[in-house]
Amino acid sequence: MPSSAHQPFPTAVQWSHLLLQPRLQPGMNAVDATAGNGHDALFLAQHVLPNGKLFIFDIQEPAITSTRQRLLDHAIPLDSVEFFQTGHQTLIQSLPPTLHGQINAIMFNLGYLPGGDKSRITLTESTLSAIRQALDMLAPDGLLTTVVYPGHDGGREEAALVETLFSQLPSDIFEVQKHAFLNYRPTTPYLMAVRRKKAEAGTPTTP
Ligand SMILES: C[S@@+](CC[C@H](N)C(=O)[O-])C[C@H]1O[C@@H](n2cnc3c(N)ncnc32)[C@H](O)[C@@H]1O
Repeated sequence: MPSSAHQPFPTAVQWSHLLLQPRLQPGMNAVDATAGNGHDALFLAQHVLPNGKLFIFDIQEPAITSTRQRLLDHAIPLDSVEFFQTGHQTLIQSLPPTLHGQINAIMFNLGYLPGGDKSRITLTESTLSAIRQALDMLAPDGLLTTVVYPGHDGGREEAALVETLFSQLPSDIFEVQKHAFLNYRPTTPYLMAVRRKKAEAGTPTTP
């Protein structure tokens, strides 16, 4: 008998985890480009550690502190985790050159820190720069997930321009999907996910 339990479709963040989960393995390299309260970082840590590396970015000290604490609360050893309290637009210069093209998963969850300072949001220009760098850092078969929030000031433009960047990626090198509710308010967050098919450079413009 089919179950009568109600089972809503996954949210944008849930989609990002659902797409990544079967592809992640201990020993892989991952980046959380927007730490926030550490939910995505914990998810990545639980899948790529031990033996892997996790790099975590956020511009805000409270986000870095809260993420570090969440990992500690879940007994994640921090020796393979590196925190950067700086913008994700420094991605390429921050990561060891040996890992360029070797990152298996990169998560962006844009917007502001829930429960924090709502004026400290991701900004279109630095987001686009960081995403271009992230595309270059991806390993073959690596995934880049981006949750966008069209509901706040600047968020709609940011979402639209990220979507434009993704839709222009060469299809022989990348495949891109969008997971969105079609009949909810247009301000509802949605996910875009990119998979790098092969190693060669394919990003339109890495500054
Ligand atoms: C929606 S929250 C992220 C949620 C988080 N991934 C989680 O699991 O809780 C967005 C975060 O992006 C951060 N942020 C804003 N601009 C940034 C930048 N240029 N580089 C890195 N993080 C940034 C904010 O400080 C905020 O903590």
